[in-house]
Amino acid sequence: MCGIVAYIGKKQAFPIVLKGLKRLEYRGYDSAGVALLNNGSLNIYKRSGKVSNLEGFALKSDVEGNAGIGHTRWATHGAPNDVNAHPHFSNDGTLALIHNGIIENYDILKKDLTSKGYTFKSETDTEVLVHLIDDIRKNENVWFGEALRRALHHVVGAYAIVVISKDEPNKLVAARKSSPLVVGIGNEGDFYLASDATPIVEYTKNVVYLEDEEIAVIDLAEGLRIYNIGDQEKTPYVQQLELELAALEKGGYEHFMIKEINEQPRSIQDCFRGRLNATEGWVSLGGIREYEQKMINANRMIIVACGTSWHAGLVGEYLIEDLARINVEVEYASEFRYRNPIITENDIVIAISQSGETADTLAALELAKSKGATILGICNVVGSSISRITDAGSYTHAGPEIGVASTKAFTAQVTILTLMALSLGHKKGMINDSKFHTLLAELEAIPDKVKTVLESNKAIEKIAEEYKNASNALYLGRGSSFPVALEGALKLKEISYIHAEGYPAAEMKHGPIALIDENMPVFVIATHGNSYEKVVSNIQEVKARKGKIVAIVTQGDKHVKELADHIIEIPETDEFLVPLLATIPFQLLSYHIAVMRGCNVDQPRNLAKSVTVE
Ligand code: AGP
Ligand code: GLU
Repeated sequence: MCGIVAYIGKKQAFPIVLKGLKRLEYRGYDSAGVALLNNGSLNIYKRSGKVSNLEGFALKSDVEGNAGIGHTRWATHGAPNDVNAHPHFSNDGTLALIHNGIIENYDILKKDLTSKGYTFKSETDTEVLVHLIDDIRKNENVWFGEALRRALHHVVGAYAIVVISKDEPNKLVAARKSSPLVVGIGNEGDFYLASDATPIVEYTKNVVYLEDEEIAVIDLAEGLRIYNIGDQEKTPYVQQLELELAALEKGGYEHFMIKEINEQPRSIQDCFRGRLNATEGWVSLGGIREYEQKMINANRMIIVACGTSWHAGLVGEYLIEDLARINVEVEYASEFRYRNPIITENDIVIAISQSGETADTLAALELAKSKGATILGICNVVGSSISRITDAGSYTHAGPEIGVASTKAFTAQVTILTLMALSLGHKKGMINDSKFHTLLAELEAIPDKVKTVLESNKAIEKIAEEYKNASNALYLGRGSSFPVALEGALKLKEISYIHAEGYPAAEMKHGPIALIDENMPVFVIATHGNSYEKVVSNIQEVKARKGKIVAIVTQGDKHVKELADHIIEIPETDEFLVPLLATIPFQLLSYHIAVMRGCNVDQPRNLAKSVTVE
C-alpha cells in the first residue's frame, strides 16, 4: 500500500519528492526512500520509519538532481527496516525502482535470477523486478523501458512501478496493474508521477490516470507516451484535477482526524448538494439515475466493502430494505471474492470505498462483473480505480480524507445510501409523498444537527479522560445503530489500541455479558425509536453487573439519564437518520482517548489508508 512519487524536469527533484511523500505517508509509513539522478550518478537514500527520518538523514548529503523517485512503504514482504526500504537497485547500480503492490510469483523469479548470478540484498518481493528488468535489458539488448515491458509478461501480481536509469537520465518509465498511478503533466515541460494526485496538485492540474497494464514512458525530449504491455501506443487521456490544495492541509487543527470530524456538517452538505431538494420534494443521484429501474427490478443488491465502508454498507442494508423493500446483502469484499458466490445478471453489486483503491473491493467487483452483474460504486476519490471500472456510481464529495481512521467519508457514504434508499423507495411507491417529504426535510437539517453534536466536544473530552485507561470496551446498538456500534468500536481499536467490540445490544446476553465488570465501559446508542425500551433493558442488564454506561441519547431524554454514568445528547431526528448523528460522539471519544494515550492519531501503527494489497 505504499506511496510512490517521482519527478523529472528542470527543478530540483528532492524537495518535490519529499513533500509528495509526506502527502502520501497515509498510505504507509514503515520506511521511506528516494533515488536521485545527478550528473550521471544515481544516489539512493533510505531509512526505516517515517518520511521525517529520511529527511533528516538525506539532508546531510547534497540531494541534488533533476530527476528522482521516492517511496513510502507499508511492508508486505520483509521487515520494515533500512535494507528493505525502496528504492531497490540493480546489482550494477544502473537502475533504481520503486513499487507498490505484491509480486505473487517472486519466489520462482528470485530462484531463477539467483541461479543466473544476481544477488538479493533485501527480503522484499519487489527486488525481483529490478533484477528481472536488468537481466532482460542486458540479455535482450534493449533499453530499460522495453525491458520493463517485457519483464511484466513474467510477473504475476499487483504493481505500480517507477524505474529510473543512470544510462538514460532524461527518462522515467512507469507501469501499473491493480495499484494506482497518476502522471502529472507540468507547465515547464516537466512531469510528475504519484500514487494519487495529492503530491501533484500544487504544480499542475493536468493529469493522466494510468489504466491497468499500461506503461508510461516519460522522455524530456519527446514528452509522455502511453503503451499497453502488448506495445501498442495509446493516446493519453488528459483530465483536469478539481482538487484544491487547501483541502490537503490541516488548516489550524492539531490532527487531520479532528479536522475531518469537524468538517462533517460541510461534507454531508456537499454530498447532497444538487441531489436533494426538500422544498420541491425530489432526490436525484445523477450518476446512477439510468440504473434506478434496474435496481428496483433487481433480484437483490449486494454491497461489497471493507472496514468502515462495510459498516456504512450495513446501515445501507437497513435503509434500503426498509424504505425501498429491495433485498440487500452486505459482504466483506475479501470473503465475497473467494467463496464462489452465486451472482446473476439480475444482481446489482455496489462497492463502497473511500479510496476507491481497496484491492479486495476492486477484485470483488471484477468477479461480479465477470458474472454479468451490474456494478456500481460509491467512492470518495475522484478518478480512483473503482470509480473507473464500475458501470455507474455516486461520488461522496467528502473531500480528501487523510487521517487513516475514516470519519467524514463514513457519514458521506451513509448520506449517499440514504439518498439512494429514499429515491428507490419513492419511485417504487414504497414511501408515500408525505413520508418522503418529511424525510427529505429531516435529511436537509442533518448538517446543522451535526454542528450541534460537535458542540459537545468538551463534554466528550471529559468522558474520554475517565475511560482512557480502559483495556476493553463494548459498543452496543440496535437496528441501524448496530453498525454505528461496530464503527465506534473500530475507531477506538484502530487509533487508541484499546480492545473494543461492537454488538447488537440484545446479542450481548449470548456471550459478551460475561466480560462486564466495574472496569468495563459500555457505549450504548439509546436514542428514541422502535427499540428504545429494549435498549433500556439492555442498559439495566449492564448496570446489574456493575458495568459503566456511556449512552448516546435523544436530546431531553430522562429515562436513560437516570441509569447511565454519562450521557451524550444528540438532536431529535427520524430514526432512519440517527446513524449520521450517533456516529459523531464515538469519533470524538476515540480521538480524545487516542490523543490522551499519546497515540499517533493520523497514522496508527500497522495501518495504512488505502489497502491496495489483499
Ligand atoms: C477505517 O477507519 C479504516 N482505516 C479502514 O477500515 C477502511 O475503512 C477500509 O480499509 C476500507 O477502505 P476504503 O473505504 O478506502 O475502501
Ligand atoms: N511488496 C512491497 C514491499 O513489501 C511493496 C509493498 C506495498 O506496496 O505496500 O516492500
